[in-house]
Amino acid sequence: MEWQQATCYLNGEFVPLASARIPVLDRGFIFGDGVYEVIPVDQVRPGFSAPFRAHEHFDRFDRSLAAVRIANPLARDEWLRLLARLVELHPWPRQSIYLQVTRGVARRDHVFPAGVTPTVFAVSSPWPAIAADQIENGTAAVTHADERWLHCEIKSTSLLGNVLMKQFAIEHDATETVLFRNGFLTEGSSTNILVMRGGKLLAPQKSNLILPGITYDVVFEIARAHDLPCEVRTISEAEVRSADEILLSSSGREVLAITRLDGKPVGEGRPGPGFRRIHAWYQQAKRDAAVRWHAELQRLAVAV
Ligand code: PDD
Repeated sequence: MEWQQATCYLNGEFVPLASARIPVLDRGFIFGDGVYEVIPVDQVRPGFSAPFRAHEHFDRFDRSLAAVRIANPLARDEWLRLLARLVELHPWPRQSIYLQVTRGVARRDHVFPAGVTPTVFAVSSPWPAIAADQIENGTAAVTHADERWLHCEIKSTSLLGNVLMKQFAIEHDATETVLFRNGFLTEGSSTNILVMRGGKLLAPQKSNLILPGITYDVVFEIARAHDLPCEVRTISEAEVRSADEILLSSSGREVLAITRLDGKPVGEGRPGPGFRRIHAWYQQAKRDAAVRWHAELQRLAVAV
């Protein structure tokens, strides 16, 4: 099955993606007035694909919706059932589940419209395996000033600042742009950024300047569980540039080593020991999570 042949969920119905339609006055289209989530689903054993950290993604979704004052249209179990259904409807062993809620359809006016129903959309797409070359050799990143707004903690569909920064990376032979605000590390265009210095894992604290990544949390959780020294604090641009290792994290790319920054090698120019250990622990964390998802499906009385 090709991604275009997916079945999506739109406002209470499952419909072919190719024929799903929203009115042009949807505020998601007009203003980017909506929030979203991306939940990775991996095949942890033959015939069983499990979402990774679904509750954490839905917790963040709740926070994003509250921040933009859209009432969550579905209860948690309804979201979980919808997620399970989308996974089940598609044959891909690895899937990326995209969820979006917008404020709804109304005459164009910046002011929140009264009495509108939020638009709810969810779709699965195939999630290709992360390239072995990127795991083995790392990836290249470039840097740029962080010119985005001051509410990066909201997972808003208004992503123009991020889109421009991702394109900047691609046009400079890189796969990510590392952003600095006033001389301090914030994050990547679509990833969180962590560094290893002197055997310690460092990352910027959560604030309005970065998205609180689910993968970032997993990385810290597994690092602490394995007694890897960790610290969350502001990180200067100079500390990033002289780091032993730089890592990126996101649901889609998991954890990867950035081995070239602005064309210069990072550390030895190879994925380092910090990356190798965290990457292996991360794969185990996915297997552990699949056991919990299996129990969740039974609780929801969804056939497994
Ligand atoms: N991006 N920072 C930004 C700006 C992001 O867009 C993302 C994720 C992350 C990592 O968050 P998480 O670990 O929860 O995926 C950090 C998603 C995958 C996207 O927009 O497609």
